[in-house]
Amino acid sequence: MSSKTILLLIAIICNTCESARILAVMPTPSFSHQVVFQPLWKSLLSRGHEITLLTTDPIKNSNYSNLRQVDWSFAYHLWQNKHNISKMIINFRHNKIKCFNQFVDMMHEITSLELEHEDVQKLINDKNERFDLAIIEFLHPVMLAFSERFSCPYIGVSSMDLTTLGHEAMGNPSNSAVYTDFLVPYDSNMCFVERLLNTLSYLLVSLYFNFYMYPKSDNVVKKYFGGNLPKLQEIQKKASMAFVNTHPALHDVRPLMPNVIQLGGAIHLHNLTALPMVLILDLEKFLNESQNAVIYFSLGSNVRVRDLPGETLNVLLETFVQSPFRVVWKVEATDVIKNASNIYTGRWLPQQEILAHKSVKAFVTQGGQQSIEEAVYYGVPMIGLPFYVDQFANIRRLSKRGACIGLDVQNIRKKDFEKAIYEIITNQSYLNAVQELSTLMKEEPISSLEKAIWWTEYVIRHNGAKLLKSNVPNMPFYQYFLLDVAVTLLLVFAIILFIQYKIVKSIIKRIRSKMRDDKFYKIE
Ligand SMILES: *[C@@H]1O[C@H](CO)[C@@H](O)[C@H](O)[C@H]1NC(C)=O
Ligand SMILES: *[C@@H]1O[C@H](CO)[C@@H](O)[C@H](O)[C@H]1NC(C)=O
Ligand SMILES: *[C@@H]1O[C@H](CO)[C@@H](O)[C@H](O)[C@H]1NC(C)=O
Ligand SMILES: *[C@@H]1O[C@H](CO)[C@@H](O)[C@H](O)[C@H]1NC(C)=O
Ligand SMILES: *[C@@H]1O[C@H](CO)[C@@H](O)[C@H](O)[C@H]1NC(C)=O
Ligand SMILES: *[C@@H]1O[C@H](CO)[C@@H](O)[C@H](O)[C@H]1NC(C)=O
Repeated sequence: MSSKTILLLIAIICNTCESARILAVMPTPSFSHQVVFQPLWKSLLSRGHEITLLTTDPIKNSNYSNLRQVDWSFAYHLWQNKHNISKMIINFRHNKIKCFNQFVDMMHEITSLELEHEDVQKLINDKNERFDLAIIEFLHPVMLAFSERFSCPYIGVSSMDLTTLGHEAMGNPSNSAVYTDFLVPYDSNMCFVERLLNTLSYLLVSLYFNFYMYPKSDNVVKKYFGGNLPKLQEIQKKASMAFVNTHPALHDVRPLMPNVIQLGGAIHLHNLTALPMVLILDLEKFLNESQNAVIYFSLGSNVRVRDLPGETLNVLLETFVQSPFRVVWKVEATDVIKNASNIYTGRWLPQQEILAHKSVKAFVTQGGQQSIEEAVYYGVPMIGLPFYVDQFANIRRLSKRGACIGLDVQNIRKKDFEKAIYEIITNQSYLNAVQELSTLMKEEPISSLEKAIWWTEYVIRHNGAKLLKSNVPNMPFYQYFLLDVAVTLLLVFAIILFIQYKIVKSIIKRIRSKMRDDKFYKIE
């Protein structure tokens, strides 16, 4: 027996929660959605649980005998090439609704093809298959149907915050005076116009989800799971628990039901202090040998630099080439950048290792959740160039907290970009602010990963989380907002007023007639 097997056996024996069969379903072909939960799969596996993982990013070179994977990586091709996600993200600001609609249609096509996958069909139709728990990405409701198919409790997981409708499905308050919808670039401190637009956005999105998205998703479920399942909106309300990847250092606080667990943004972060020896020697040399500060620039894994408007790309490139600083640039096609000795480019770069390097003093980012999380964790101030959904709000919050300078990438001018770079590197206040956030982000009584494991096993042990579930999602709209009570009270009030009015009227009438009688009497 190898030492690994022995360790595994010990882990299994010491376990208070017996090894369970877990189905994990992660349909979004975006690395940032997947990377957050990989440590959770690995930990659950080494604790002896059997996992069937349906994912676009299978765990590589794994020797886990208790892991079965379905490889959905073909979805990346649809996401990047067929639907051109890069273009969708870059065009988002021009027509948010159209781009959002394109995104939803694309996800329906992707989830359909994922469900059509031979191994998935086998799984769905296998009469002997059973699971103790399903862990399912909460963002796209289609996959939630797996919990009904296998009649098991499920945990909905999100690599970022939940959408407003996701919050409502869990029973969290969603008052649009305070809590923003993901289509708006605001935070929880809104002026009148912002509250107005936030409310309209919320109403619009609710209508869109209720009358377009959910019915469409229900059709996909009907096609691949058969017609006997409840509607997805009902399935969504049955979630035993939700894991959200938010943290007060990065997000505004909001009330959460006790079965909504904040994982706190650091589950996949390694607390690195140096680049690993073997990794990329020339990059390390480039960083080590820099006399001046180094800027790290990445627009995330979805935006292709080539798809940026020519003018924008020119501004970015010229500013970097002419700056006195070295730049490490993650770019999908390295030939975009020519003849610049102060720029190091790579198609794939170890982001955490770079942010952890002591020479890196600024991060120019699109403001995606995982990027800001990593920058704050490693204490690197940011320049935000947001493109898409939550990125605007992420950058606005971090700017308000003094850790970031936000720029409008659409109308970016060289002068402003240069000034922002100079400011972020020379003005200590940004560094101080981001380092304070970094410290706060690491202040946890228990690590995010341990928290996630503990609650996962809680749901397994108790076959759900009945006592932690709120009744709010099952209440009709009019009851939650007390409309029935308000109408009743108004009615009672109106009746009392009416009776009082009648009484007063009749008293006045009597007095009048008495006075009249008296008058007659006097005249007589
Ligand atoms: C998995 O097993 C193979 C062959 O048994 C071995 O070469 C490889 O190093 C192992 N990988 C890991 C990650 O342990
Ligand atoms: C995506 O759209 C951009 C901008 O129109 C275009 O340049 C690019 O070739 C497209 N990519 C693919 C793979 O279709
Ligand atoms: C991270 O690393 C630093 C330095 O090695 C150490 O002091 C700190 O305790 C670590 N933090 C966590 C959360 O592991
Ligand atoms: C870079 O600097 C670190 C710490 O100063 C050192 O450990 C490492 O060997 C250096 N790497 C290279 C490639 O020079
Ligand atoms: C890049 O450098 C090469 C050789 O040094 C030169 O021939 C070429 O014209 C340069 N290209 C640009 C765009 O400056
Ligand atoms: C540094 O930035 C802060 C926040 O923007 C600002 O209040 C302060 O005046 C700046 N300091 C200098 C020396 O420019």
